Amino acid sequence: MKASVLRLFKDSFGEHPRFLVRSPGRVNMIGEHTDYNDGFVFPMAIDYAVWIAFSPVPDKSVSLIAGDFGESGGFHLEAFRNTQSGWIEYIKAVASVLQNRGYTLSGWKGCILSNLPIGSGLSSSAALEMAAIKAFSGVSGFCLKPAEMAVIGQKAENHWVGINCGIMDQLASACGVRDCALLIDCRSLELEAVPVPEKAVIAVLDTTTRRKLLGTEYNHRRQQCETAAAFFGVTALRDLTLEKLLSRYDRLDEAVGRRALHVVSESDRVLSTVRHLKNGDLEAAGHLIHDSHVSLRDLYEVSSQPLNQIVEAAMESSGCYGARMTGAGFGGCGVALVDKMKSEPFSHELCQRYRSKSGLTAEVFITPATAGTELIPLD
Ligand code: GLA
Repeated sequence: MKASVLRLFKDSFGEHPRFLVRSPGRVNMIGEHTDYNDGFVFPMAIDYAVWIAFSPVPDKSVSLIAGDFGESGGFHLEAFRNTQSGWIEYIKAVASVLQNRGYTLSGWKGCILSNLPIGSGLSSSAALEMAAIKAFSGVSGFCLKPAEMAVIGQKAENHWVGINCGIMDQLASACGVRDCALLIDCRSLELEAVPVPEKAVIAVLDTTTRRKLLGTEYNHRRQQCETAAAFFGVTALRDLTLEKLLSRYDRLDEAVGRRALHVVSESDRVLSTVRHLKNGDLEAAGHLIHDSHVSLRDLYEVSSQPLNQIVEAAMESSGCYGARMTGAGFGGCGVALVDKMKSEPFSHELCQRYRSKSGLTAEVFITPATAGTELIPLD
């Protein structure tokens, strides 16, 4: 990727870039749809990333080439607006939030390349937002902490793109730690790096289907969670215990009750999973990972048939401790915790089983946990 994006810049602008940024996607091991309820999540940054090679320009223009789409786009920092025109909106979105926060931005030109599949639940948009923030801060001469970058990216996505996402994806991309997953408290934004157990690997299971209707369904789930929190008089579902929820469960709208039951139990599952992983109990962690899938499928209703099929295929394959859908849902990828010694037969069996269940060809990749968004030195 590094060589390709540098070459693209040289071919496009006839010179070498001054800077290079790598911004990873993420896979969430457990803790789904809990972030916007102030709960706990457990994602890690992955080996697949958005790369931007860039150089400052003397004026206030931003000119970009998106190599994956064979498209170019740009805008002027003193006058730009939302035209809902694809990838460039993410760059405008972060520029707008940075300017509203008082940062003076300089112009730049750059080339973007990514090997993160779009709409697959691996946070390609958060990775792009974090990369663009790094580029703006790099050319404009200010420095932001990773957690600040994440908050800016989330605001950008909420206000400009219109998805009411939580903070997980941006935090995972910006704050990734090599060989660790991140236990994040989405209320305090406190973060603990927990090593991925040596005896296990993390497999990303791509159904090769892409999600649809994400914005509408996602925002609707979020509203249902807010309705449940308001019913119990709490700030967020984070503040609700299972006992309290069950004590008045019958009085809740049926769908709202199921959503709340998922969120409250899922946040507990995150903490228990982390405890088991720290104790080296991979079997117990795996059970909870799969329980999370069942809850997302039956209570939160954000899975899809291919996601259920790939998770079933994974659970039946050698060396799998536990598997689930990952990310917002409605298509995209699953994730599995797999015995390191059995990762090859696992991948092979999974692909065969998924094909016979769904007629589709899965993509499986074993990914290490990587560092977060970073400037890569250019020699
Ligand atoms: C998307 C959002 C995140 C989170 C997940 C579901 O990835 O961007 O904030 O809510 O869905 O856990």
